[in-house]
Amino acid sequence: MLKYIVFLSLVILAALSCTKNTDLTYSQDIAPIIHKNCTSCHRSGGAAPFPLTTFQHVNRKKNTILAVTQSGLMPPWPADRNYSHFLGERYLSQDDKDKIKEWIEGGAPLGDTKTMAKPPLYDQYSNIGTPDTTVWFDSIKVIGNSRDKFFIATLPIVLNEKKYVRAMEFLPNENNLVHHMNGRLLNYEDTKKASITNGLRILDLEVDEETYIKQFDALKLTNDDGTRPVQINSVVNYLPGVQAQLYPRGIGGFTMHKKSILIADDIHFGPIPQDKWDHSRVNIFYTDSPPKRPIREVMLGTNGASKIIPPLVIPPNQITQHTTFLKIPDDISILTINPHMHLLGKSFKAYALTPKQDTIRLIHIPRWDFRWQYFYTFPTMLKIPAGSVIYVEAEFDNTSKNQNNPYNPPQEIRERYEFGGAGMRTTDEMLQFIITWLPYQAGDEHISLLVKEDKSE
Ligand code: HEC
Repeated sequence: MLKYIVFLSLVILAALSCTKNTDLTYSQDIAPIIHKNCTSCHRSGGAAPFPLTTFQHVNRKKNTILAVTQSGLMPPWPADRNYSHFLGERYLSQDDKDKIKEWIEGGAPLGDTKTMAKPPLYDQYSNIGTPDTTVWFDSIKVIGNSRDKFFIATLPIVLNEKKYVRAMEFLPNENNLVHHMNGRLLNYEDTKKASITNGLRILDLEVDEETYIKQFDALKLTNDDGTRPVQINSVVNYLPGVQAQLYPRGIGGFTMHKKSILIADDIHFGPIPQDKWDHSRVNIFYTDSPPKRPIREVMLGTNGASKIIPPLVIPPNQITQHTTFLKIPDDISILTINPHMHLLGKSFKAYALTPKQDTIRLIHIPRWDFRWQYFYTFPTMLKIPAGSVIYVEAEFDNTSKNQNNPYNPPQEIRERYEFGGAGMRTTDEMLQFIITWLPYQAGDEHISLLVKEDKSE
């Protein structure tokens, strides 16, 4: 009998702890958090693989949602917010995290739907306005073998006259396919290249070395005499859920010649289980005024202005540390920074040391995630005084504990140089720090880089 009573009270206790009650409801408390932090990616046609726009969606995924929100994996923002701040930071406040936890553990009640807010509306074809022109890359077939894929894609653009561009925006046709792209513009002189349309358009970066070298030549990116055209880096970048870069008027912009080739260098597709076709578009926003303060770019590390020490050769079963640094001769104003490594990246830190030995913090990424390579824009321009040295410290993990290691067992991985950039091949590694900047002008540190909804041109 006593045994029976003990058993019964245990059952009652267990039942009580499972249905711990909560006053929080989806309608009143949780939907606003999800709408603010999740549905920009988790929606139909959005960047994430599944929507979270209804109670049913959220309820079905609640256990994973609990895990990824508490661990900080979602919303994705790998930079350490205790180190430095940027525009558009994605994070849940402790209060929001606690609410999600309490609500899910309390049985995830729906509540009264009459007063529930609707998820925000999103424009499928542009996040920044009505483009002047839209151009398309060739379709790319993405094989469904559940592995990450990397390509180079080229898009020749012929104009009647040279034009000034305020912004370019890349949009995949099926959002959750493309995970990352970085676009450069090759501007040709009319007389130096007869045709820009006779090159190969797509290069799979997973082919063997010989095929790769042949196909890279077949992209036909050089002038007819073999010299290189003028190149503008980072004219367009894409990451799921990230709005195209739009700087305040008078800052940035570039010129596009009558003949140019947009090259998506590292277009990265996430793993999918079935074959799919991607057909990505590029929206172009022109402006009548020539760029007043055109953006400059400097790159540290691979292919850049500073050496990597020790050289980027990562032996199997090792974790290695590397650094690279660059002295800044004149006062500059930094706008945006982009740390870049590949699959072996482990951590990344960058800062400037002024001639007075003051430290200006740039960025710290304690746990590198190659899926979330943001271009981080400072809230206001960041002045770096002349004579400062910018330091980068990076760690790479070539052990089998690194889940993204492309080889099992691990093999030696190194950086490798090619025309205009080292490729995102699984056999390559990179350490790059890209800085977009302007020559400093008095008052720059007070200029906000936040562009308010500016959909009219
Ligand atoms: C910037 C876009 C973006 C935002 C914002 C975002 N997600 Fe995600 N989420 C993704 C992508 C993309 C994936 C697919 C996994 C990947 O690529 O890393 C994902 C995956 C997930 C997963 C599955 C994880 C797994 O291990 O299976 C959950 C759950 C999730 N997100 C919940 C959320 C929640 C909750 C929020 C808001 C608090 C949120 N996400 C905000 C893009 C986003």
